[in-house]
Amino acid sequence: MAATRVSELSPGAMKWVVIDRERVLIAHVDGAFYALRDCCGHLGAPLSTGTLVGYVIECPLHYACFDVRTGKLLSGPVAADVAGYQVRVDGDTVYVKR
Ligand code: FES
Repeated sequence: MAATRVSELSPGAMKWVVIDRERVLIAHVDGAFYALRDCCGHLGAPLSTGTLVGYVIECPLHYACFDVRTGKLLSGPVAADVAGYQVRVDGDTVYVKR
């Protein structure tokens, strides 16, 4: 499903979109795009409102850190990774497959 346009997301930025009634975070890092479920596995904070430094997203509530490329938990008060989704870029369109 078309999620956003390449031109709408600057390098180092992230945003959220709704796909199939679920919030999905889209991030642009180093010329590549990544998509994760926009919901921290701890208490459900929207990760898209956290901070993105390099490939690390930090949750805005209790600072759990996840790898934006995979959703893998790196540190924090939570035991679960965040679901990641397949991304494909075609021209100016970023597609996400859930
Ligand atoms: S809600 Fe994300 S670390 Fe607590």
